[in-house]
Amino acid sequence: MYICVCNAISERQVQEAIAQGAADLGDLQAQLGIATCCGQCADTATDYLPGGRYAVEHVSEAVAPERVVQAPLLSSVEIRRVA
Ligand code: FES
Repeated sequence: MYICVCNAISERQVQEAIAQGAADLGDLQAQLGIATCCGQCADTATDYLPGGRYAVEHVSEAVAPERVVQAPLLSSVEIRRVA
């Protein structure tokens, strides 16, 4: 999906730029040229930045594997005891 139609910049390009350190719209403009023509894509691009509504996916993907906690599955008997 294109985020910036004027400059043919895709969602993937925006995500990669953010993963590589782009932290604000100015960084995306400098690195990709996004929102440098009509500017209609600025709000959508900003939504991918940290704190934006699409940023949650990036945060969860960025969690280091060693920080993921594996919880044991409970048997049906154990679930009844807990409930
Ligand atoms: S859609 Fe991005 S500058 Fe026009």
